[in-house]
Amino acid sequence: MNKTKDFFDLHANNYKKQFYDKAKGDESVARIIESKATGRILCVGGLWPGIDPQTISTDLTLLDLSLGMLSLWSNFKIIKICGDARNLPLTDNSFDTIIFPMILHHVVGETAHNARDGIVDVLNEAYRVLSPKGKIIIFDFSVSKWIYILELSLSGLTKRFLAYNNIPLVIMHSLDFYNDVLLETGFLNIEKVITKDNSKNYFEIIRPIIGLPWFAIPRILYPLSPLLLLAKKKE
Ligand SMILES: C[S@@+](CC[C@H](N)C(=O)[O-])C[C@H]1O[C@@H](n2cnc3c(N)ncnc32)[C@H](O)[C@@H]1O
Repeated sequence: MNKTKDFFDLHANNYKKQFYDKAKGDESVARIIESKATGRILCVGGLWPGIDPQTISTDLTLLDLSLGMLSLWSNFKIIKICGDARNLPLTDNSFDTIIFPMILHHVVGETAHNARDGIVDVLNEAYRVLSPKGKIIIFDFSVSKWIYILELSLSGLTKRFLAYNNIPLVIMHSLDFYNDVLLETGFLNIEKVITKDNSKNYFEIIRPIIGLPWFAIPRILYPLSPLLLLAKKKE
């Protein structure tokens, strides 16, 4: 049983309503992703918010753990594969760009420690499947170093609260963590493309948990910032 897969299968229909339409505000990020993604492209965990269907490459493969989430993109005539980012059913050196749009905070296990190991596994798999000089694009939320330490220490409590509502654990990682794992995996030329800092809009109301629309809090309680990271595989 995979709790994340079951969760997204169950919530796939609500997902577009609650998040995808709203995420149209991220169009500038979408245009950056589209301009950087070249060659044979693999997108893992759904396509990116604000995607322009006119501009996407015909050489695009989409991989997702959840068949329900894959079906959201049925109007896109692209190859779709059901699989896990931690164990890609794909051959070595087979893609020029791999994109992870808003997936990595969902790659978890039973503990925050498993979640960190999961990111190591995902990035190792991406490195294996990328062609030499291939590019990785990560679009996700990040938290500051101190919020990250707090989040990791409180993850047991968070897990229980979420489990009570039938929601699997979610861990937002820090920029430093992504940076360290990318370097350890062998990626070079790490580039942080956007630096929008949402954490200043302290009293804006956010609904950070998919599946809990009633859970609305001021941003100051969970200051997340969008992060767009690019890196390259060695030649
Ligand atoms: C928050 S949704 C993001 C959807 C879309 N990319 C977006 O930005 O709106 C996270 C997606 O990641 C997928 N996912 C989570 N863990 C995964 C894993 N280990 N391997 C592949 N896909 C995974 C989920 O099924 C879900 O479709």
